[in-house]
Amino acid sequence: MEMKTIMQKAFNEQMGKENESAYIYLALSAQCEAMDLKGMAKWLRVQGDEELEHAMKFYTHLADRNAKIAFEKIDKPKAAPNTPLGVFEAAYEHEKYITKCIHELVDLANKHNDPEALSFLDWFVNEQIEEEKSTRDIVKKLEMAKGNISALLMLDKMLGERKGD
Ligand SMILES: [Fe+2]
Ligand SMILES: [Fe+2]
Repeated sequence: MEMKTIMQKAFNEQMGKENESAYIYLALSAQCEAMDLKGMAKWLRVQGDEELEHAMKFYTHLADRNAKIAFEKIDKPKAAPNTPLGVFEAAYEHEKYITKCIHELVDLANKHNDPEALSFLDWFVNEQIEEEKSTRDIVKKLEMAKGNISALLMLDKMLGERKGD
């Protein structure tokens, strides 16, 4: 089914937000590099790579449906918080924002009767549960580790084991 202009626009905007997410995660990763928390830096870098994949899913959906592909301006990321807890709180808050965006897209696809978009968005609805969970779990662990350097370093090591480049 041909994609309505309003749906094309919303999908292009979300593609922009996923690319922006990659940029935000890379900024958070760079902050961890600066704090010598290499494992956390790695985890955030891999997370950023996944965001690029999310952006490409939107790109492919638009391309497959012969829709117009348009690119959004991506702002410079905000200065990253200067504590590991602050960094992961920022990641968690960002994921909650993205979840809200995905839910708004679902509402829009319902309103404009776009079953293909709805089917496509199902994956993202589930993915966001995972995205919120993984960032929230790290926030909780960092809260528990507060002031305990060896617990922090152990968590850093553990997060550095995440697979990816
Ligand atoms: Fe994403
Ligand atoms: Fe994400």
